[in-house]
Amino acid sequence: MDRIQIRGGNRLNGSIQISGAKNAALPLMIVSLLTPETLTLSNVPRLADVRQLQRILQNHGVDIMVAGKRPGQNGHSGDTKQLSARTIADTTAPYELVSKMRASFWVLGPLLGRCGEAKVSLPGGCAIGTRPVDMHLQAMEALGAEIAIEGGYVIARARHGLKGAHIAFDKVSVGATHAALMAAVLAEGDTIIENAATEPEIGDVATCLVKMGARIEGIHTTTLRVRGVTSLHGTEHSVIPDRIETGTYAMCAGMTGGDVTLKGADAGHLGAVLDVMRQAGIGVDVTNEGLRIRRNGQALEPVRVETQPFPGFPTDCQAQLMALMTMANGTSMIRETIFENRFMHVQELARLGAEIQLHGDTAEVRGVKKLTGAPVMATDLRASVSLVIAALAAEGETTINRVYHLDRGFETLEEKLQACGADVSRISGN
Ligand code: UD1
Repeated sequence: MDRIQIRGGNRLNGSIQISGAKNAALPLMIVSLLTPETLTLSNVPRLADVRQLQRILQNHGVDIMVAGKRPGQNGHSGDTKQLSARTIADTTAPYELVSKMRASFWVLGPLLGRCGEAKVSLPGGCAIGTRPVDMHLQAMEALGAEIAIEGGYVIARARHGLKGAHIAFDKVSVGATHAALMAAVLAEGDTIIENAATEPEIGDVATCLVKMGARIEGIHTTTLRVRGVTSLHGTEHSVIPDRIETGTYAMCAGMTGGDVTLKGADAGHLGAVLDVMRQAGIGVDVTNEGLRIRRNGQALEPVRVETQPFPGFPTDCQAQLMALMTMANGTSMIRETIFENRFMHVQELARLGAEIQLHGDTAEVRGVKKLTGAPVMATDLRASVSLVIAALAAEGETTINRVYHLDRGFETLEEKLQACGADVSRISGN
């Protein structure tokens, strides 16, 4: 297994190209199941999760072609993929494939919408919490599907097709909103999705669906209104920039001091994160190129933050913020309200000398003057990148084991950091 070695202490200076958003690219690829025509997606990040979803979609009969690079495209412009689901060869998503990546469960809605049936493995356990799928099933049932759970599989049938419905979610779920939307676009009649998640990635999927002929109103709001259509056609769509990757590199820059431009970043997707960074004393400027993040000598100030659905502070940046606050000039309080067990990074940050106490869903982070390099273990995607942030400022060498977690969600992380002067290398293992 590969490891990443970081020798801390270098300030980051330079620019980093932000990749396409993983959390938009995955559902956009799944959207291809809804049409027999070709969906062309550009700015698709080169990530392990994307490759895994590709295997799942191919199993359903989707042809996927990756276009060659155009002249002038650099290594971080992402892939252009053409996805064609002329016929759905198989409506079963097997355990061996779904268990590797939770978002692959989201094929349920489009398969039901297009074929009237689907058999999808339950995603199973996850390191950051129980992450149930009850709301996904609630949405499918509301749209007229009969659901049974047998042998670890969700078996869903809509013999006479899906019918428009009123879906009111009790809480905000990104995945359940995607599922409801993707199923409703081909349902007969009108659907209203209330308490929909408003994450920018949902807006991106809805925008793509509209280009394909779907009728959706209320995009980017908590109430989505869908008028079902009988079929969708192909289109071309470019994936939005990754706001979590942006927030992560912004925190790398803030942690080490220095001056970094995040090219292609969309500040509009990061309001809460940028507010917190400014409170922490970090310079944040929106520029023509994207975002410029600076900290030249100013102390890091502690913050009080609670994770919330968009537009609140994202849970996917919580671990990174905690790493940043380990060296703040005082005590920060960070409350996690989305996932109950998303503090796996605390133990590992402690190995570098961080002082963090957990009180239920809240972490009390007492800033220390220095962190010291150590061997640590990546536990999940966002937790592992928080260790990178801490290691960049720690004295001496940190080795991060199990970096396959990082490869799921961060494209060429070492190269991007090296280009800004970080001492980072990957050690290939077996
Ligand atoms: C998505 C993101 C993930 C992010 C999360 C929250 C992708 C591929 N993943 O995950 O990076 O951390 O949103 O912003 O986009 N819940 C239920 N029942 C359900 C579904 C969810 O109780 O049927 C709960 C979850 O346990 C959690 C909360 O709702 O407590 C939010 O989860 P959700 O928004 O669904 O997360 P994901 O879509 O899995």
